[in-house]
Amino acid sequence: MHSPVPDYLAEVADACAVTTSGEPASYIPELATVDPDRFGVAMATVDGTLYSVGDARHEFTIQSISKAFAYGLAVRELGLEAVLTKVDVEPSGDPFDELSLEPSTGRPRNPMINAGAITTHAMIGGPDISPMGRFEAIHRLLCDLAGRELAVDDEVWRSEMTTSDRNLAIAHLLRSHGMISDSPEEVVSAYARQCAVLVTAEDLAVMAATLTNAGVQPVTGQRVFSGDQVRHLLSVMLTCGMYDSAGDWVSSVGIPAKSGVGGGIIGALPGQVGIATFSPRLDAHGNSVRGIEVFERLSRDMGLHLMEVAPPARSVVHATRVEGSGDDAVRVLELSGTIGFTGAERILRRLAEHPLEERRVAIDLSGVHALHGPARMMLLEATRRMRLDGYEVHLVDPDDVLPDPDPGDGRLLEPLPSSV
Ligand code: DON
Repeated sequence: MHSPVPDYLAEVADACAVTTSGEPASYIPELATVDPDRFGVAMATVDGTLYSVGDARHEFTIQSISKAFAYGLAVRELGLEAVLTKVDVEPSGDPFDELSLEPSTGRPRNPMINAGAITTHAMIGGPDISPMGRFEAIHRLLCDLAGRELAVDDEVWRSEMTTSDRNLAIAHLLRSHGMISDSPEEVVSAYARQCAVLVTAEDLAVMAATLTNAGVQPVTGQRVFSGDQVRHLLSVMLTCGMYDSAGDWVSSVGIPAKSGVGGGIIGALPGQVGIATFSPRLDAHGNSVRGIEVFERLSRDMGLHLMEVAPPARSVVHATRVEGSGDDAVRVLELSGTIGFTGAERILRRLAEHPLEERRVAIDLSGVHALHGPARMMLLEATRRMRLDGYEVHLVDPDDVLPDPDPGDGRLLEPLPSSV
C-alpha cells in the first residue's frame, strides 16, 4: 500500500496553488528577485518520517523563523528569568518592525518582533563574545536543528544591510535603554546574517518537529532543548509568532508557529507533527499567503488545532487478571496508553472505590507508552498507601516507563517474581 499522506499533502498544495495574491518582500531588495510561484510543503513526524511536496527542497532564507530558535537558545544559555528581564512575552499587536518598547521598562514586548529578536540575539554567547561569534553560535544551533550544515545567502545578507535603517534605529533605541551594549551596527549585521541562513521547507519541518518532540531532534536523536524550554518557546510562538495577526491565527489554525519574510512558515503541534511551508508571496503582516492557507486546511482537515484534543482513553485500567491461586494469588492490573493527570485520577479512584480482594497486587505497565510526571507521583503515592493498607505491591515494567519506582517509604517496588 502507498501511504495516502503524501497524496493528501499534494491535494492540499494543488488546492492552494491557485492563490496568487500577495507580493514577495521587497524592503530587502534581494528578496524581491525570487520566483514568486515557488511552493513547497513538508511535514515531519516525531519519529523522523518526512513527507513533502513541490519545492520543499528549494533553499530560501530563514528570516524571522530564526528568531524563535535564537530565543530558545538564549533561554537555554541564560535561563528564562534572566531573558525576561530584557524581553517580555506579551503579544504586541504591532507589525514585526515596530519601533516600540514597553514604556516603564524599555523592554521589547516579545522576542518575535524585530526589537525583541535583536535583543535576544545580543544576549547569546556571554558578554565577551564577538558579534560574528554570536552569529556562529546561532548558526550552529540552526544546523543542529536541521541535522545538516546550512549555508548563508551572502547576497541577501548584504542586501538587508543596505536597507536596515529601521533595525538600526531599533538597535540604537535598545542601546539607549540599556537592553544591548554592543555597537548597534555590529549587532544588526550579525542579526541580519542569522536571518540569511538558507533552509528548505524539509529542513524547517524537521526543525519544527524537534519542538514537537519535546526538544529532541527526531532524525539525529540530539537533545537540543529541554522539555521546559520547548513548552515556553511554543507558548510564545502561539501568542506572538504571527505578529499582528496572531489572534486570527490562533483561532483559525491553532498551531504554535513562526513566519519569515523569505516566505517560510513553521508550525509545531506538541507531540504530533512539525509542518513547514514555503511560498514567497506575503500578506500585509509579512506572512506567506499560501502558507496560511495550507495551515488552515491541514488544521481543519486533520484536526490539528491545539484546542481539538482527542479525549483521553476512558479506561486506563485496560484489564485485570489473577495469577496463581490461594494465598499466593496476585491481582494484576494492566494499565495502557499515555497516562497523565486525568488517567492517573481514574486509576486511583478505581482503587479507592473497589478495594482489591487479593493481598498481592501487580501493576502491569507493559501497555503504557508514557507516564507523565504528575501521574508517576500519583501512582507511586497510591502504591505507598496500598502498602500501608497491607497490600504487597509489585511492578511489571519491561520498557522502564517508571524508572526508580520509589514510593517514598524506603522500599522500591519490586518486579513480580517469576514463580507466580
Ligand atoms: O529583520 C528583518 O526585518 C528581517 N531580517 C526579518 C523579518 C521577518 O522575517 C518578519 N517575518 N515575517
